[in-house]
Amino acid sequence: MKHLLSIESLSSVEILEILDATAGMKSTRGRHAAHPLRHQCWAIMFSKSSTRTRVSFEVGIRELGGDPMFLSSNDIQLGRGEPIKDTARVMGRMLHGAVIRTFAQKDVEEFAQYSGIPTINALTDEEHPCQILADLFTIREKRGSLDDLKVCFIGDGECNVPRSWIWAAAKLGFELRIAAPPQYQPPADLLARAGGKIAVTTGLKDAADGADVLYTDVWVSMGREDEAAYRIAQLGSYQIDDDLVAAAKPGALVMHCLPAYRGKEITDATLEAHADTIFQQAENRLHTQKAILSLLTA
Ligand code: CP
Ligand code: NVA
Repeated sequence: MKHLLSIESLSSVEILEILDATAGMKSTRGRHAAHPLRHQCWAIMFSKSSTRTRVSFEVGIRELGGDPMFLSSNDIQLGRGEPIKDTARVMGRMLHGAVIRTFAQKDVEEFAQYSGIPTINALTDEEHPCQILADLFTIREKRGSLDDLKVCFIGDGECNVPRSWIWAAAKLGFELRIAAPPQYQPPADLLARAGGKIAVTTGLKDAADGADVLYTDVWVSMGREDEAAYRIAQLGSYQIDDDLVAAAKPGALVMHCLPAYRGKEITDATLEAHADTIFQQAENRLHTQKAILSLLTA
């Protein structure tokens, strides 16, 4: 593995390799035998806000012996129109790797191509691969395995997080149900390309019925702020609450990639009742990304 650009571009073997390496990273935190990023400097280049991803990459790079360099796109010439391919060719000659959060997936791919250094997608409009890898690890940790897994995603089914879930389900062969209003369902061509056991519906209760995991994400993704009022009106009933949890399998996990907007995609009571899982999920971003960093530099 040279880059981590999407779940779409990973094989099932690579996904499982990352999950296994994550278990090793988590169990040896603070006493790692190897520091594969020693003498390395990695750029963390973000065009969108972040709490979890930024902090977990900065901490993770340091814990593996490297130095992170945070660059907001507004601080560098990229924000004033310098092309990605020129930025990438400069950075590729100075840095050892790059973690990028931006809008277009093609920009991360172009950076990887022109820089020649390991490049990690830290969220684009199309995918959030590090998130879904950490989520899979969390589900395996909580549930013991990914066998016979049924995941139900509720909310904006068209954004980056459910898109990465679609690829994860297709690659690993588990069942994914997406409950979303028609205009926020994943595109038909993406579903056709992915294949797998994926069902898309407008019916929340049907989608949640017997699910092992109920998962949601914000209704208004970064970059969509000007559509906020419309989205909130359209997505208003696509919420995880205690009634929906009751429709899932007894003991089902409730998950959220965070940040959470209580009273919108999830109620306060449901979030707090499942805070243990949700914040374990957030913590696992650190361990998963350290596993990815170490596999990319192996
Ligand atoms: N889940 C997630 O990526 O959070 P941040 O936007 O805070 O990084
Ligand atoms: N879909 C959300 C994920 C945030 C982690 C967004 O893109 O803003």
